[in-house]
Amino acid sequence: MEAHDTPSWVLIAYLIAGICFILALRGLSSPESSRRGNRAGMIGMAIAVATTLAIHDIASILEIAIAIAIGGTIGLVTARKIQMTAMPQLVAAFHSLVGMAAVLVGAAAYLNPGAFGILGPDGILPVSRLEMSLGVAIGAITFSGSVIAFLKLNGNMSGKPILLPARHLINLGLLAAILGLIGYFTIDQSPWIFWTVAALSFLIGFLLIIPIGGADMPVVISMLNSYSGWAAAAMGFTLHNSAMIITGALVGSSGAILSYIMCRAMNRSFISVIAGGFGGDSAAAGGGEVIDRPWKRGSAEDAAFLMAQADQVIIVPGYGMAVSQAQHALREMGDLLKAKGVRVKYAIHPVAGRMPGHMNVLLAEANVPYDDVFELEDINSDFAQTDVAFVIGANDVTNPAAKTDKTSPIYGMPVLDVEKGRTVLFVKRSMGGVGYAGVDNELFYRDNTMMLLSDAKKMVEEIVKALN
Ligand code: TAP
Repeated sequence: MEAHDTPSWVLIAYLIAGICFILALRGLSSPESSRRGNRAGMIGMAIAVATTLAIHDIASILEIAIAIAIGGTIGLVTARKIQMTAMPQLVAAFHSLVGMAAVLVGAAAYLNPGAFGILGPDGILPVSRLEMSLGVAIGAITFSGSVIAFLKLNGNMSGKPILLPARHLINLGLLAAILGLIGYFTIDQSPWIFWTVAALSFLIGFLLIIPIGGADMPVVISMLNSYSGWAAAAMGFTLHNSAMIITGALVGSSGAILSYIMCRAMNRSFISVIAGGFGGDSAAAGGGEVIDRPWKRGSAEDAAFLMAQADQVIIVPGYGMAVSQAQHALREMGDLLKAKGVRVKYAIHPVAGRMPGHMNVLLAEANVPYDDVFELEDINSDFAQTDVAFVIGANDVTNPAAKTDKTSPIYGMPVLDVEKGRTVLFVKRSMGGVGYAGVDNELFYRDNTMMLLSDAKKMVEEIVKALN
């Protein structure tokens, strides 16, 4: 449908959907309003989908219903089965689908431009050629990049960077070729140009992500999220669908902002992450080595005694808390300590766990009061006045090597200064287990540290019993 023959009620409905999406993003910016934000997003999406179905002019309602039934069933089954800890790879897999959808829409528009209303006197309208080739390029990069991110996060491929010689030169050459061909496509719509743009884009997506080391994966996920938004926005132009343009641009820009925030949280420059290969060599060097030094082991009773005596306890949750689903027992432990007059706070590192906001979501699920939850920059100075830092399933986000060891894969990342607490309790399953970056943590061997070796949930339940 041409933009100028779009009925005004459709444009108004899309505008309302767009406003709902903006309200959704606004709501999601704080835990208190996140449920409201989610509802606004769902209402917006329902309006956008219902409106698009009402003006359908490409496929029949039956075809659309069959496609929704197939896709919806796969989505429902996957979402029900997925473990919270596998969320990052699920998100990567979903981004790959958005990328592929953009490629397929672009290809469909190229092969049957009449159906998309983009046919001019000299073939496909030049502006539409630009939109579709850009959309296909961004979509293909999103697809192949997300597939590699999925394989790395899912452990099917090593998280270590694969560094090709002259990779920056190859990537720059490919990028120049893609941009040049997109420009040429606006004056010549030959199939070879369109398909070469698609093929080179698939290739560069693959090459861009393979050199990125495991430690930088959080940034990659949000970056691919951003790309998937821009791919959708470009396709919105091809389809003359303003809701898609608005949604794509919102996803693209919020993903870009999130990538920037993640880079800041990890003290990485955006360019160095995109260029790839940073943090990888040293990850290989430090990989899984365990320091052979004496360490102190404690029991649940010891931990309960220490915390019950404390004025202030700061709880530092990490990936291990998510794995063992210890958040409910942890809340109970916090409540018991508060009842004994202990001040209890939770310290959240921006990349604790495996996805942005991972810890906040789990603590909110366990009804931990938002006022007790603090971000890194708001709580780091508190550790020096804290009796007990209770680190549960977190490793990298507390590792002081990030401040001192230039060869460490996490060097430069701000970390929680737990070692400044009078006593540090670490809950983890074994001394051999390392965190995501694959490095040991020197804090385990310090005099003021006590190791509580156990599954996180089991240990917290035992502490709760001891506190009672
Ligand atoms: P990690 O450094 O990965 O450490 C997890 C710790 O939990 C390990 O010490 C592990 O030791 C322990 N653990 C695992 N299962 C456990 C269980 N059932 N019970 C008790 N302990 C358990 O976690 P972190 O400190 O949260 O750091 C996050 C890391 O992931 C960072 O390097 C970050 O860059 C990376 N990352 C983050 C994201 C986002 S966006 N948040 C995305 C991808 C990657 P044991 O094996 O000995 O138990």
